[in-house]
Amino acid sequence: STGELEERARKIKKKMGERLFIPCHHYQKDEVFQFADATGDSLKLAQLSQENRKAEYIVFCGVHFMAETADILTTEQQRVFLPDLRAGCSMADMANIHQTERAWEKLQNLFGDTILPLTYVNSTAAIKAFVGENGGATVTSSNAEKMVQWAFQQKERILFLPDQHLGRNTAYNLGVGLEEMAVWDPLQNKLIFEGQFEKVKVILWKGHCSVHENFTEVNVKQVRDDYPNMKIIVHPECSREVVALADLAGSTNYIIQAIEQSKPGSAWAIGTEMNLVKRIIKQHPDKQIISLNPHMCPCLTMNRIDLPHLVWCLESIEQGEERNLIQVDETTSTFAILALERMLALS
Ligand code: 13P
Ligand code: SF4
Repeated sequence: STGELEERARKIKKKMGERLFIPCHHYQKDEVFQFADATGDSLKLAQLSQENRKAEYIVFCGVHFMAETADILTTEQQRVFLPDLRAGCSMADMANIHQTERAWEKLQNLFGDTILPLTYVNSTAAIKAFVGENGGATVTSSNAEKMVQWAFQQKERILFLPDQHLGRNTAYNLGVGLEEMAVWDPLQNKLIFEGQFEKVKVILWKGHCSVHENFTEVNVKQVRDDYPNMKIIVHPECSREVVALADLAGSTNYIIQAIEQSKPGSAWAIGTEMNLVKRIIKQHPDKQIISLNPHMCPCLTMNRIDLPHLVWCLESIEQGEERNLIQVDETTSTFAILALERMLALS
């Protein structure tokens, strides 16, 4: 039963004390979230993984790329686990290292040595390593603007992997025109752009989040019609059109804070993952809060981490079996850390 599983989790946590650390992303289910030692957005969880030097075992409640990042940022002795190895990220799957190397070769032919690669942390360790090796950095939704500005101090152009929407929204906010952006299609291995090549400043990888693509202009129009006083706040993984029509856009931490700081009685429509929206609704009974898409949008891979998988993972550690260990090889780590540290130094 749930009660029995909760008891087993509590017991192991108590027994292991500071030797065990459970970081948990905001999109996790409540049944898992309740056991978190720390919660946060991708940036905060990466920072916490780097700061924590006490824990021997880090059980990451989030998705695969986050656990990889934690493994890269922790010491060799610290071990990172993902309670269900099927917890991937459909966006991170939209760019693999072979496609990236193939793209890079073609882009170098087109633009010479004028491009700096940046990758959203929602990417494989191999891509982070590629970016680190080529002088670039990782970004998260809470520091994307700062990182894009930093990139333009180094080179004339950037390649932004793998989320075209975060890349487009960020560059647009910094004054880059849509006519100065091109899209790289990894499946066709070609640049989609109709203007003059010399004008391109930002090359967006053709990837997206399958959760945030469910928030549409139609949803925005519906909310504006039904609730004229409601503020619309969305994650920048939403399309340019949706972000342009919304009132505010930012990372999960930003969304949480904006709503916390709003006055009692405020009304909000939120465009992000369902578990977080539901939690915010529960935490603010004094505010009127809905999902921007009335069919709540879950991240299926985040939801793979449930209480039974968490307990199974904790018990395997307790019994010395150490199942579902996430280990990034040394060469990949060495280069990936360059990309991550360039970001963390500026965050
Ligand atoms: P943040 O929590 O960094 O805003 O990221 C959202 C997300 O989609 C993580 O996969
Ligand atoms: Fe990946 Fe989107 Fe899920 Fe985040 S919400 S883990 S970007 S699929």
